[in-house]
Amino acid sequence: MTITLIWAQAHGGVIGADGGIPWHLPEDSRRFRALTSGGDVVMGRKTWESLPGRFRPLPQRRNIVVTRDPEWSGMGAERAESIEGAIELAGDDVWIIGGGSVYRGAMAYADRLEVTQIDADIDGDARAPEVGPEWRVTASEPPTGWAASETGLRYRFLSYRRRTPEAPSAHQRDR
Ligand SMILES: NC(=O)c1ccc[n+]([C@@H]2O[C@H](COP(=O)([O-])OP(=O)(O)OC[C@H]3O[C@@H](n4cnc5c(N)ncnc54)[C@H](OP(=O)(O)O)[C@@H]3O)[C@@H](O)[C@H]2O)c1
Repeated sequence: MTITLIWAQAHGGVIGADGGIPWHLPEDSRRFRALTSGGDVVMGRKTWESLPGRFRPLPQRRNIVVTRDPEWSGMGAERAESIEGAIELAGDDVWIIGGGSVYRGAMAYADRLEVTQIDADIDGDARAPEVGPEWRVTASEPPTGWAASETGLRYRFLSYRRRTPEAPSAHQRDR
C-alpha cells in the first residue's frame, strides 16, 4: 500500500479560504486528475462539501469521506469514522486529498507527498501540514524555477519521499 498526500499551496502554506480553493490553476487540476484516477481518495467532510456537484463523487476514484458524524452519508461516497478507518477501508493506492485537518492527521501515515507550490501571496484560512526534515524532494517540475500557467500564475510540482531510517553506524552496532 502506498499512501500519498496531495495538495496545492500558495505562500505561507495557504491551501483554502472560506471553504474553497482561492485560485484557479488548470494545470494542477489536470495533474491531480491524472495522478489520483484509478485510486482511492480520502477527504474530510468539509472538502467533500466543497466539491462542485459535477465532481462529486470524484469520477474514476473510490471516494472515502472522513467524518465523526455517524449519520453522515453522501451519494457516491463511503464514510469512515477516522483517518485510520479510511486507510483500512482503502486499497493499495491511497490518495489523501485534504483538507487541512485531514492532511495533518494523515501525515504520520504518508509515504509520499505531491505538492504544487504556487508563487503567490493569497489570503486563506486553511493551511498545509508542516513538511519536516524526514522528507526529501525526489523530483521537481520544472527542475529549477517556476512554470507559467495559462492563468498567469507561476507554479511548480514537488514530489517528496519519506527518508528511510539510516542504517546504524558500526559504532552503534557494536554497542
Ligand atoms: N489546496 C488544496 O490542495 C486543497 C485540497 C483539499 C481541500 N482544500 C481546502 O481545505 C479547506 C478544508 O479544510 P478543513 O481542514 O477546513 O476541513 P477538512 O479537513 O476537509 O474536513 C474537516 C472535517 O473532516 C472530519 N475529520 C477531520 N479529521 C478527522 C478525524 N481524524 N476523524 C474523523 N473525522 C475527521 C470532520 O468532519 P465532521 O465535522 O463531519 O465530523 C472535520 O470537521 C477548504 O478550504 C478546501 O477548499 C484545499
